Amino acid sequence: MSGSSTIYRSSTTAPVNIAVIKYWGKRDTALNLPTNSSLSVTLSQKSLRTHTTASCSESYSGPDSLILNGDKEDIQSSKRTQACLKHLRSLRQQLEAKDTSLPKLSKLTLRLVSANNFPTAAGLASSAAGFAALVRAIADLYELPQSPQELSLIARQGSGSACRSLMGGYVAWRAGTKEDGSDSLAEEVASVSHWPQMRALILVVSAEKKGVPSTAGMQTTVETSTLSPARFKDIVPKRMQDIEKAIQERDFETFARITMQDSNSFHAICLDSWPPIHYLNDVSRAAMNAVETANRKAGKLIAAYTFDAGPNAVIYYLEENAHKVAGVIKNILPWTSGWEGEFGEAIPPNEFGSLEQKTLMTLKAGVSRVICTAVGGGPEKVENHLIDEQGNAIRD
Ligand code: DP6
Repeated sequence: MSGSSTIYRSSTTAPVNIAVIKYWGKRDTALNLPTNSSLSVTLSQKSLRTHTTASCSESYSGPDSLILNGDKEDIQSSKRTQACLKHLRSLRQQLEAKDTSLPKLSKLTLRLVSANNFPTAAGLASSAAGFAALVRAIADLYELPQSPQELSLIARQGSGSACRSLMGGYVAWRAGTKEDGSDSLAEEVASVSHWPQMRALILVVSAEKKGVPSTAGMQTTVETSTLSPARFKDIVPKRMQDIEKAIQERDFETFARITMQDSNSFHAICLDSWPPIHYLNDVSRAAMNAVETANRKAGKLIAAYTFDAGPNAVIYYLEENAHKVAGVIKNILPWTSGWEGEFGEAIPPNEFGSLEQKTLMTLKAGVSRVICTAVGGGPEKVENHLIDEQGNAIRD
């Protein structure tokens, strides 16, 4: 059945990803092209995901709209969202031109409704999962034949890190060299099943004040940091090769060393920027100390910390070492929310000795919640819609 009242809908969920080789710097701000390649681990959607429904109908009037977590967003003045919508519509138009029997969905108003399953207050960057879900849901609505890799070119224009959330497992974003950005896309390096034992513990740290947003911060770094050219040109390309090999060989020690080195290198160029950019605080440093203590006690690298544009710590470890890494944190923060769920409940109590008093007190005072998660898969099409059959938004 189709007619003027038909409500076309498609829904998807998309994951968060946390980089182990950081994207920090644009060589083209209009096309959102990076100064260097990056690599991330896609995290399980059981813990963190964005759920988005895309819908269009002849019965809708007015401009395209987006409701995010219950609030209407201004997408008309968001150049990034507009770039994604324009690109997706033109791909649909190409299909409609080839097959004139197809409904002209590209001409219809879009209604988008999106919700995260984690509190915004957690301070986790949600733009990656958000833009990945938006692009995937509209691509499905338009029945586009493009692969996740081709769609990653579109998501990249929404938010750079979003291109890596269109795939599961271990994902590289190739910086590319072309001026038009056509080779700046995401690529799966290894699937979840290749190395499913990877776990991630996120320590959510309450920041005293809001830090510099990443888009602005990375521009300051590109313009002023004297250390950054070496990072872009030599350091990251070598690390990309080495960490990809470590992932292929499931070599956690090399993976952990490079992850920590690259996080530190990223925060070093932030500090080297003018005005300097500070993202880490005492709680972040206590988390680093806890990881270093676990590694020292084990006599090898069993845990790796990494930090994005904020004080939250993400700690990677293998399932077999859960009690020696996450177990130590669970011991000192047993009442903190976030231990419930498949990955957190499975963490056995720690019998591995504890942390020095100062680290312990700082973590106790500064960690507001934890998120226990693991490597996970890419976006999933779902039948649970956030827009009803009449075209109205429904709450997740
Ligand atoms: C520190 O992807 O948020 O998380 O492209 O300007 O939207 P825009 O930036 P964004 O930057 C992410 C920076 C990072 C590192 C990373 O995820 O690689």
